[in-house]
Amino acid sequence: MRYLAGGESHGPGLTAIIEGLPAGLELRTTDINHHLARRQMGYGRGGRNAEKDQVKVLSGLRFNRTIGSPLTLYIENRDCSNWQSVMATEGEPPADWQPVTRPRPGHADLAGGLKYNYDDLRLVLERSSARETAMRTAVGSVGRIFLEYFGFSFFSHVLQIGKAAVSIDAGEIRGVNDIVEKSAVRCADENGEAAMLQEIDQARRDGDTLGGIFEVIVKGIPPGLGSYVHPDRRLDGRLAGAVMAIQGIKGVEVGIGFAAASAPGSEVHDPIILRQGAGIERISNRAGGLEGGVTNGSPLIIRAVMKPIPTLSRPLPSVDWQTGEETAGAVERSDVCAVPSAAVVAEAVIAWELAVAFKEKFGGDCLEEISGSYHRYLERCSRRLKKEENRDDYNSSE
Ligand SMILES: Cc1cc2nc3c(=O)[nH]c(=O)nc-3n(C[C@H](O)[C@H](O)[C@H](O)COP(=O)(O)O)c2cc1C
Repeated sequence: MRYLAGGESHGPGLTAIIEGLPAGLELRTTDINHHLARRQMGYGRGGRNAEKDQVKVLSGLRFNRTIGSPLTLYIENRDCSNWQSVMATEGEPPADWQPVTRPRPGHADLAGGLKYNYDDLRLVLERSSARETAMRTAVGSVGRIFLEYFGFSFFSHVLQIGKAAVSIDAGEIRGVNDIVEKSAVRCADENGEAAMLQEIDQARRDGDTLGGIFEVIVKGIPPGLGSYVHPDRRLDGRLAGAVMAIQGIKGVEVGIGFAAASAPGSEVHDPIILRQGAGIERISNRAGGLEGGVTNGSPLIIRAVMKPIPTLSRPLPSVDWQTGEETAGAVERSDVCAVPSAAVVAEAVIAWELAVAFKEKFGGDCLEEISGSYHRYLERCSRRLKKEENRDDYNSSE
């Protein structure tokens, strides 16, 4: 299962084609739009979020069921009418065309201008900016809907914005979905939320921006997604890569992550126990649901650090790309903080990677085939975990 996406920030819209989805999956644009709206929320975001993103499905769906053919998604950029002359696909630039020539430190502007040999750095920001994460969220939501059918559930929350952090143990607040969905900063802890709002207000007054830390948790994952047999099949690598590829993400942790450096092995690894009547169990989940690049049946726990937004209303020093004069970085309409949105994007990219791994493991062209193979696998795992039969019994019974 794969996808390709395209679309500029101020072009007509964003497009993606997903290939490899099974036939028979129930899909509604309202469900995808729900996640697009969640991505647009969050205290500290800029003006663009007045545009409500809505996905259109152009192929691959009939009467709300996938038909196995490529699923084409389209999200219109609602303010593209204001950019028609500047972003025209044909013709000449307008007479009053103002190229972007002041690269912003922390953005792709300078490196992108060099790489693609542009005069106008707008061509860099049009694709490097996080506008395209609307489509990554839509694509990931399709993966998520596929996995929700098999009992997966997804949750994200913000642990820190600037210096303001949640004041209770993250373990205690995991799973409090309702509170998080109502919080302006996706924070489950009232005190933490109040401090985060203050930090954002202060940064806005200072003409500055903020980053932070968020966490994504996925429950209902079977053991055995991904593989240790080859590096490119390791799910830890794929998931970390997908989260790191979100604009602004500078660090990704799985389970206790960096804290593993300072604890002995006896306090890092999760003991395996045999519970009478229940079978083999794990009594902790410091590994965050992954061992050897393979899901182990415990919830997946991934945390990520987002750097502060690079577009500052009091910009940092830069050099004009055209004149060579010292100047200040360009100022565009911009967010002060986008950590809550990045958490929703991360849910989506994680859902997509898990969906790809799930489809790899259970195969099939239609939902019934995948479902049959999935439930046979779960039964086998359950028998083996309960020690009801050994491998020879299992081989002969299949
Ligand atoms: C949801 C989201 C919204 C963002 N909004 C902005 C923004 O309004 N202005 C900006 O300069 N950067 C914004 N960013 C961050 C930049 O896109 C990012 O810092 C830039 O691409 C460079 O990051 P990189 O070095 O990790 O690629 C946003 C990122 C995300 C995930």
